[in-house]
Amino acid sequence: MTDSNNSIGVLDTGVGGLTVVKELRKLLPYENIIYIGDSINCPYGNKNKNEIKNLTLNMFDFLQNQNIKVAAVACNTISSALEEFNDIYDFKIKGIVIPAANYVINNNIKNIGVFATSFTVNTGCYHDYLKSISPNINVISKSSACLAALIEQGDFSSQAMKEEIKSKIEEITSISPDIKDIILACTHYPIVLDVFKACFPNINFINPAFEQAITIKKFLQENNLLKNSGQGTTSIYTTGNTELIKNVSNKIGIQNDSKIKKIQL
Ligand code: DGL
Repeated sequence: MTDSNNSIGVLDTGVGGLTVVKELRKLLPYENIIYIGDSINCPYGNKNKNEIKNLTLNMFDFLQNQNIKVAAVACNTISSALEEFNDIYDFKIKGIVIPAANYVINNNIKNIGVFATSFTVNTGCYHDYLKSISPNINVISKSSACLAALIEQGDFSSQAMKEEIKSKIEEITSISPDIKDIILACTHYPIVLDVFKACFPNINFINPAFEQAITIKKFLQENNLLKNSGQGTTSIYTTGNTELIKNVSNKIGIQNDSKIKKIQL
């Protein structure tokens, strides 16, 4: 049975979803958060839908055993394949694409760039949703086949990473110089927001983690599932390297009282 004392589950293909944990932690201090990142199989963004589906089911099964009350999908790639997972589990599954796209709509942005993995861009999920609500919006989407994996390697200032960021963002702005706002539509990318900003100081890079955290809070409020007292805990599970979790947590400023554990799914 789902009740307010159950945890919020957060899942990602690797360390990227820690950007969502950071925002949830700030917004919902009383909640217990359980994170699962499948770093051993990252990146998912170059895999096919069936592979992504099977790997994601392993993470949902893990979270089901943790008695969560909602699953906040941090990963855009998984979210773009999401409809197939709804209603299989006891908990509600909330994707990150619609909250991020709604930020664009709510702020009346008419020229928007979307920078994401190959899978996310190929689904057209941002483009199609934005056009369905705002038919005249100009959406330019570009993907990177390697940036998430480069960030997952843990070197946050590598030359290869900087060059990939520069060339892909320049592709967007050269197609459409009017674009001043770009969604970082892969959770790994805001980990190196400092690099994006240093390379392109005049672009507003949108981090969907804020919007996802607000969406989860609203869902809990509307369903009487909000936990209103006690000190919230953060438990982080990874199929990969626990040192990388610590490095990313330090880099993005997650409190260092999290429990971190390596597991197999
Ligand atoms: N974190 C994933 C996302 O938000 C992408 C990383 C991957 O390709 O696994 O899309």
